Amino acid sequence: MAALSLCLTVITVSLLLTLRADGAGQNPDHVLQGTGVKHEARRPGEDSTIAPEDAARFLSCYCSGHCPDDATNNTCQTNGQCFAIIEEDEQGEAILTSGCMKYEGSHFQCKDSPKAQTRRTIECCNTDFCNRDLQPTLPPVAPAGNVLLTTAQRFRCFFRYKWQAERQRYHKDLEQEVFIPAGESLKDLIHQSQSSGSGSGLPLLVQRTIAKQIQMVRQIGKGRYGEVWLGRWRGEKVAVKVFFTREEASWFRETEIYQTVLMRHENILGFIAADIKGTGAFTQLFLITDYHENGSLYDYLKLTTLDTQALLRLAYSAACGLCHLHTEIYGTQGKPAIAHRDLKSKNILIKKNGTCCIADLGLAVKFNSDTNEVDIPLSTRVGTRRYMAPEVLDESLNKNHFQAYIMADMYSYGLVIWEMARRCITGGIVEDYQLPYYEMVPSDPSYEDMLEVVCVKGLRPTVSNRWNSDECLRAMLKLMSECWAHNPASRLTILRVKKTLAKMVESQDIKI
Ligand SMILES: *[C@@H]1O[C@H](CO)[C@@H](O)[C@H](O)[C@H]1NC(C)=O
Ligand SMILES: *[C@@H]1O[C@H](CO)[C@@H](O)[C@H](O)[C@H]1NC(C)=O
Ligand SMILES: *[C@@H]1O[C@H](CO)[C@@H](O)[C@H](O)[C@H]1NC(C)=O
Repeated sequence: MAALSLCLTVITVSLLLTLRADGAGQNPDHVLQGTGVKHEARRPGEDSTIAPEDAARFLSCYCSGHCPDDATNNTCQTNGQCFAIIEEDEQGEAILTSGCMKYEGSHFQCKDSPKAQTRRTIECCNTDFCNRDLQPTLPPVAPAGNVLLTTAQRFRCFFRYKWQAERQRYHKDLEQEVFIPAGESLKDLIHQSQSSGSGSGLPLLVQRTIAKQIQMVRQIGKGRYGEVWLGRWRGEKVAVKVFFTREEASWFRETEIYQTVLMRHENILGFIAADIKGTGAFTQLFLITDYHENGSLYDYLKLTTLDTQALLRLAYSAACGLCHLHTEIYGTQGKPAIAHRDLKSKNILIKKNGTCCIADLGLAVKFNSDTNEVDIPLSTRVGTRRYMAPEVLDESLNKNHFQAYIMADMYSYGLVIWEMARRCITGGIVEDYQLPYYEMVPSDPSYEDMLEVVCVKGLRPTVSNRWNSDECLRAMLKLMSECWAHNPASRLTILRVKKTLAKMVESQDIKI
């Protein structure tokens, strides 16, 4: 597998652009000539997640080589970013072109280029006509040393996938698969790519190959974004999330976040592959992850009661996952801080041994302190209304301040541990499973319903008297109350929560 890595690295960026172009159907330049067209209106169902709308945020950019058909005066408009790209053509000449990039996926595409081997560099910016001043330079020539591919093959491989090459051919070429030797488990493959590569996941062609070889077994879930299927790859069970075409922004975002360097963590759902199939209206977007037969925390708590040990194990492992997301790791091989923005019991999965992992990163926001760049979403009103922090409901959240999203996650985490605590038996007593605010709002609460309860009346989920007479539940109650405080600045950070829970775990002598 490593043998193919050069080719694979070379095509990584191009493939992503290509995949997106493929998916767009009629207009292969769709991604780059973003029109900011609004997605069709959505009607979220019960407790479903609400995606950011494609807000009309029009930016004018200079275009050359990537002008939309109706462009005048070398100007295009987008809801995303302006870009300039330099790349080498088949004669080895550097060609500089520029244009508009659609919002969806733009962060992904603008950032992938520092991985130098591709002989193309893209730079983006986001003020009117800013791309006139961009001067991207070609990266150094990729080193030789690929053992499987001959020079000619490598050459073909590179140019075949080149962004500006004949687009008709992309589709056919994408049918290409790599050979994965029998006996390689997904765990082996991922382990190998972790130790040899950038640590951000399997090479794209390996991902596509795995995706194509998966048998779909049965549907196991359904949501706003699409469906989840149980799949099988060479006998191993995997979960396949199939996104609706209109949800491609979520697919892009989730794929992007999962492929962030150092994202892997035992309490974050394990990413295996992303893929895209078909064209136009029939595009299907796939995300393949580890499969956890015990389902979501929501399903689990409905069926199961907990003892103190099980409660602490769930709360602590979820905190570890969230802590990994929230924490920035510095350095070139670092990891940005990430806020989830849709934390709820339905987005947390239960592993076999009773620990959890956090899933559903389709709305996540990233922050990198090096570049001081907040990946600002287009709308603050996203997530699941029932779990929205007061500042999200009343729209007082400062969109430009990354820490605000982090603290909104903490509020949602507080609600999740309330759901867990109800199911913990003490003195033979336990509450039935309920969603937060179940007795205060209707089953598909509106913003107004939630705003009234959470902000105006300042209510929080009801707590049973028995919690005060149990040491563990009393401590959990204190923790959740400090997470769901009205004032975001008074909430605990996930690091504090994790430390507190670690102490409780230790004093109970529980193995996590
Ligand atoms: C064309 O664009 C340039 C700046 O890019 C501007 O100076 C010029 O006035 C524009 N012409 C028309 C006809 O809009
Ligand atoms: C997960 O489900 C399996 C089979 O239904 C069961 O044996 C196992 O105990 C469950 N795991 C947990 C942590 O409850
Ligand atoms: C649960 O499984 C993970 C591996 O998936 C392991 O790292 C962890 O130590 C296990 N925890 C317990 C309590 O067995």
